Amino acid sequence: MIDLQLTDKKHDEERQGEALIVDAPLVRNGRKLYIESYGCQMNFADSEIVASILLDQGFETTGDYKEADVVFINTCSIRENAEQRVRNRLSQFGVEKRRNPKLIVGVLGCMAERLKSKFLEEEKLVDVVVGPDAYRELPQLLSEVESGHKAINVLLSREETYADISPVRLNGNGITAFISIMRGCDNMCSFCVVPFTRGRERSRDPHSIMAEAQDLFDRGYKEVTLLGQNVDSYKWKGTDVEESAEIEVNFAQLLEKVALISPELRIRFSTSHPKDITDEVLYTIAKHDNICNYIHLPVQSGSSRVLELMNRTYTREWYINRIDAIRNIIPDCAISSDIIAGFCTETEEEHQETLSIMDYVKYDFAFTFSYSERPGTLAARKFEDDIPEEVKKRRLSEILLKQQETSLYRLQQFVGKTVRILVEGTSKKSDKDFCGRNDQNAMVVFPATEGVTAGQYVNVHVDRCTSATLLGTVVVEEPEIV
Ligand code: 5AD
Ligand code: SF4
Repeated sequence: MIDLQLTDKKHDEERQGEALIVDAPLVRNGRKLYIESYGCQMNFADSEIVASILLDQGFETTGDYKEADVVFINTCSIRENAEQRVRNRLSQFGVEKRRNPKLIVGVLGCMAERLKSKFLEEEKLVDVVVGPDAYRELPQLLSEVESGHKAINVLLSREETYADISPVRLNGNGITAFISIMRGCDNMCSFCVVPFTRGRERSRDPHSIMAEAQDLFDRGYKEVTLLGQNVDSYKWKGTDVEESAEIEVNFAQLLEKVALISPELRIRFSTSHPKDITDEVLYTIAKHDNICNYIHLPVQSGSSRVLELMNRTYTREWYINRIDAIRNIIPDCAISSDIIAGFCTETEEEHQETLSIMDYVKYDFAFTFSYSERPGTLAARKFEDDIPEEVKKRRLSEILLKQQETSLYRLQQFVGKTVRILVEGTSKKSDKDFCGRNDQNAMVVFPATEGVTAGQYVNVHVDRCTSATLLGTVVVEEPEIV
């Protein structure tokens, strides 16, 4: 999962038009919704579902909370500092609310689920608290608030997948989009709050996933990322609409179905779990050129003893075996990871084991974290958070340093070669440059070139790199492609 912070904005006119004729009694023409998302990609995808539900009620979205009628903050509980950021932001919204008492402030997502009605007691400015499985209730909850009450719905569901809701693409580039394929998590990693905030794992109907991917492709999108907390345990059982027969679809089969929509549509997915990723998935990636050679396979720790305390249900050896399988079946596959420094009782030797597994895998990229105890988790109940903050910090900086070196090493392998990229638009730093990612998810920046536009696949010769970016120039002829 990636910690991002983003505010929403645009939605297309078409959907807005459609919204105005739906469910007329609840239409609030012209009311403005501002939605801000924190945490993982799943939260960003959920905000697009929330926006879709409210646009169907006649809302418009705005990128400026000062002109909004409703401000939603879609929250993350994964680490304490993520929650702190949300609280700081809420106090800024509080200033606005004092200026405009009619402003409705809502807290959505994982913090809403974790804190429930406590949120309404602790943060007086909050009017509505809604958990990740209750977004369909938002119109009713807003009506309650308008009639002068605080409103809350934090019920978790075993079925809700929002399969029939077509997300409004917020803040998008029109080229790449997320598709949720499942919700919740049954894994119970001992450090993790997600099973408590997002509930039980459930897979979404493959027909609705395919329809969403096809629709995106028809509208000019060129890349979809299939999202789940643990995509490898995707499993759907039900009746096939065409053949009216009982079918079962696993993740490898779903990947293949989406890949067959068009060779021009790239497929990515996240997150994979080392205990569940099968050779069938790896062979499916190898078989289809448009399934990107990139796997996010969080290791968390390189020590088997720590992994057991984390309840990850695999050992160091098992993880290494999965890495070897990836290298054998998809030789040029990029691999990234999540790593936690300073989990309960972690010794110096065990920390060294994390560094040594990083040496073995040579990750292309890693998200690195200092262990943060989360109330209610298995680890909080069973173990003492006994690694001093300064030790966690030092171990984390050693992990970070190693990752910077390996990221640079990985990117250097592309220098002097030509890579195929999907152009996403102008680069963040300069509108004279374009950017896009290659198959292995490396960011490539190159000078804007006549005839090249966002959404095109182009070949770029990599001239040099930093530890985060490849820098190159577009090539017209067709040299050896890696
Ligand atoms: N402390 C630190 N990192 C955590 N993660 C999840 N829970 C915690 C925690 N309590 C990290 C894991 C996970 C990623 C999304 O966040 O590495 O894979
Ligand atoms: Fe949390 Fe583990 Fe589930 Fe990931 S797999 S969401 S770390 S419980």
